Amino acid sequence: MNKVTVVGSGFVGATVAQYVADKDLADVVVVDIIEGMPQGKSLDLMEAAPLAGHDCEIVGTNDYAATKGSDIVVITAGIARKPGMTRDDLLKINANIVQGVARETVKHSPDAIFIVVTNPLDVMTYLTWKTTKLPSSRVIGMAGVLDSARFQAFIGMETGFSVQDIKAMVLGGHGDLMVPLPRFSSVNGVPITELMTADRIEALSKRTRDGGAEIVALLKTGSAFYAPGRSVAEMVESILKDKNRLLPCAVLADGEYGLKDVYIGLPAVLGREGLKKIVELKLSGAESAELKKSADSIRENIDAMNKLLVTA
Ligand code: NAI
Ligand code: 2OP
Repeated sequence: MNKVTVVGSGFVGATVAQYVADKDLADVVVVDIIEGMPQGKSLDLMEAAPLAGHDCEIVGTNDYAATKGSDIVVITAGIARKPGMTRDDLLKINANIVQGVARETVKHSPDAIFIVVTNPLDVMTYLTWKTTKLPSSRVIGMAGVLDSARFQAFIGMETGFSVQDIKAMVLGGHGDLMVPLPRFSSVNGVPITELMTADRIEALSKRTRDGGAEIVALLKTGSAFYAPGRSVAEMVESILKDKNRLLPCAVLADGEYGLKDVYIGLPAVLGREGLKKIVELKLSGAESAELKKSADSIRENIDAMNKLLVTA
C-alpha cells in the first residue's frame, strides 16, 4: 500500500486525508502539533471507512517517526492571516513552520514527493525545495488545479453545461496576478471564446482570481478546504498511479516560458517520479506579459522571505 503523510490536520489537511482515503489511494498519516486533533480526525475517518468502502489505514500523530517511508508528503501546516497581521508577519510565521516541517519530514522520507499547500503558495513551495534539497521534480505546489477547478465551476454556472465537460487552465502564481487562459479553456473541445462574450469571460476570470477571497468573505473565520483538498487528491492520484495527467501546478521554471529560478503555476505532467515535464504552450504577448508580472511578484516575495528568515 502506498503511504501519504499530511502535515497539518486543520481544514485542508483533514480534507486531503478524507479524499485520498475515499479514492482508495494510500494509507494516510496525519501530523499536527495540536495533541488529539490528528488522532481524533483520523479515528473519525477510520469510522467512516466501512461506509466509504475502503481499507486504507488513517493514523493521527504528533510524532514524525510515524511518517517514515512516505511516498508523498503534503504540507498544509500553517496559519491563516488574522486581523492586524501584515503579509510579512504571515510570511515569516508560515516560512518558519514550513521550514521546520520540511526538515522533519524529509529526514524520515527522503524518497518522497512533496506537495505544498501552505500559503503564500509559490514562495512556500520554493522554500520546501530549498530546505529539503530534493530535485525540483519532487517538490510541487498545489494551486493551479484549484484555481482551474474554480474557473471550470464558474463556466458551468454561467453556461449551464455539465462541469464534466468543462476544462480550464489557470497559470501563474496563486494570488491576484494568476493568469486564467480562456483560449485554453473549453466545453468538450469547444473553446469558451465561442460560447461567451469577452466581457463575461473577463468577469469569470476576475471571479477566479478572487476565488479564495470570496470564500473567506463568506466563512469569515477560515478559508476554502473542500476544493483545495480534492485538488491535492487529484495530484496524489496522478503521481501514485503514474497517470501522466497534465495539471497546472507550481513548479520550478528552468527557462520555460522565459522564466528561471522561480516556482510558479505552469502546465505540468505528473507521474510516479513527480514532475515529469513542463509543457510549453504558445502564449500571446499579453498572456506572456501577465505571466511575467506574476513571476516578478513571486520573486519579490521570495526575496522578502529570505530577508525575514535571515533576521528570524
Ligand atoms: P487550519 O488552520 O485549519 O490548519 C492548519 C493546521 O496546521 C492547524 O491544525 C495547525 O495546528 C497546524 N500547524 C501549525 N503549525 C504546525 C507545525 N509546526 N507542525 C504541524 N502542524 C502545524 O488551516 P487550513 O484551512 O487547513 O489551511 C492550511 C494552509 O493552506 C493555510 O496556509 C492556507 O492559506 C493554505 N491554503 C492553500 C490553498 C492553495 O490553493 N494552495 C488552498 C487553501 C488553503
Ligand atoms: C484559496 O485560494 C486560501 O489560497 C486559498 O482558497
